[in-house]
Amino acid sequence: MNPVQKNEYRGHEPQNDTPQKPPYDAAHIAREEKTRAVWKHFHTIADKYDFMNTFLSLGIHHLWKRRAVKMMGLKENDLVIDVCGGTGDLARRAVRAMQYQGQVIIYDINSAMMLKGLEKIRKMGLEDHICCVQGNAESLSFPSHLFDAAMIGFGIRNVTNREACLREIYRVLKPGGKFMCLEFSLPASSWFRALYDFYSFRVMPLLGKHIAGSREAYLHLPESIRRFPLPPVFAEMIRDAGFSDVSHTSMTKGIVVVYQGCKK
Ligand SMILES: C[S@@+](CC[C@H](N)C(=O)[O-])C[C@H]1O[C@@H](n2cnc3c(N)ncnc32)[C@H](O)[C@@H]1O
Repeated sequence: MNPVQKNEYRGHEPQNDTPQKPPYDAAHIAREEKTRAVWKHFHTIADKYDFMNTFLSLGIHHLWKRRAVKMMGLKENDLVIDVCGGTGDLARRAVRAMQYQGQVIIYDINSAMMLKGLEKIRKMGLEDHICCVQGNAESLSFPSHLFDAAMIGFGIRNVTNREACLREIYRVLKPGGKFMCLEFSLPASSWFRALYDFYSFRVMPLLGKHIAGSREAYLHLPESIRRFPLPPVFAEMIRDAGFSDVSHTSMTKGIVVVYQGCKK
């Protein structure tokens, strides 16, 4: 059996270049193209993704993820969705946080990323706790009010329609359900920002080219971070999706931010 379940939404897989017909308008085509470009980007780097994360962040991403999952306060037997879960770092941490008594569904558009993650999941004997579903985060293929908690790590920045994604996460959470979003941001201090810019635009793309075989993928990363809304603005978007008690907490001088919210 295919370990990655597909939902009905398949618009993200690269298709033949068939001409677009109505009701596709220019904006729709642009959105489809962005989603496809993101798909291609992660497909290209899937094999090297985990190694590059650790290498480029000097291992700090593990600390960010550990702290972010801890902040969620997961309980035994919770059902959790890891939206844009990729290779499953957050999912595996969540299972540990639930004392190996809960379930996590990794939901991602890219099967190559999830298949990579499944290798680790199997090695760690976590198959009974984690499964993967392929689909677009803008339309989650689950009924409403199903999950105790939802998380999205370094994923929302890549989603074309972020508002739709946040609304979908809100919909599938149970009343009282918790939401956590871990995302990059920009350091506030000017000297640190200069250093960070140099590393992001000069060093990272070069390492990406030589190690992961894609300069573009690792140039896309700093560029997309700079286009992403600043924490107060993104926190407002989370509120607009319906969440209450929204907060944001910076880590490592503002390089990453943990957003939290609750469905009342
Ligand atoms: C930077 S990776 C993050 C993976 C993982 N959450 C982590 O923290 O390591 C972003 C992931 O988002 C997925 N993604 C991007 N756009 C998506 C979309 N519209 N729907 C579902 N997944 C998406 C990509 O395939 C990729 O696996």
